[in-house]
Amino acid sequence: MKADNGTLHRHDYPDREALATGLAAGIAAKLAGAISEHGQASIAVSGGSTPKRLFAVLSQADIAWDRVTVLLVDERICPPDSDRANQRLVRETLLKGPATAAHFAPFETGLATPDENAARSAELFAGVPLPLDVAVLGMGTDGHTASFFPHGDKLSEALDMEGQRKVVAMKADGAGEPRLTLTLPVLLDARFLALHIEGEEKRGVFDTACAGADTHAMPVRAVLNQSGTPVHVFWAP
Ligand code: 6PG
Repeated sequence: MKADNGTLHRHDYPDREALATGLAAGIAAKLAGAISEHGQASIAVSGGSTPKRLFAVLSQADIAWDRVTVLLVDERICPPDSDRANQRLVRETLLKGPATAAHFAPFETGLATPDENAARSAELFAGVPLPLDVAVLGMGTDGHTASFFPHGDKLSEALDMEGQRKVVAMKADGAGEPRLTLTLPVLLDARFLALHIEGEEKRGVFDTACAGADTHAMPVRAVLNQSGTPVHVFWAP
């Protein structure tokens, strides 16, 4: 994978269990530090399949989870109990054990239109102090991250660093159902930003993303090809 530079900090692990243990420890330390510093902490996590092992380890962390607010980086607009719902994944794998005490603030997905869900979600998140203390991104093999999908209908708005929106709805080929996503300014403002990817295929996608500049073709580039925010890249085979 691309070597470290001023923005990208690589954390390679020999296997996925070791990565989950290492990343969970790092996240727990950041959350505990935020709690001791300002009495509360916030984390936004991604869905999909990669984070399951991480969530199982992180849920057992011995921190003041009752001071932690858990958000999603993005969500599929589907019923909360759908097996496609990221909120279901978080409820079933992260909000367990000690982490049961955390405050969970999922996106609103029950209103009539994606844009109405986005607007209501932004209202719900208004009470969560920003910047986020931790944000954990994944990456698809098409080079999407969050719900910044290639050529998504609101991708420019989601990536607009001068924009004021915290949440946008997104429709795109390859996204399946319409999505809701935190915007790039919110994610790049996080005090600790991690990109969690696993496997040789995603290693190749990551290197391809690093080698190019077209963010609409590979939106993860908007995270990788910037210099304002350190990005901690966690990878295992
Ligand atoms: C989602 C995620 C998304 C995810 C990538 C990778 O809702 O799908 O938030 O951005 O991180 O699609 O998903 P996998 O971990 O399943 O490969």
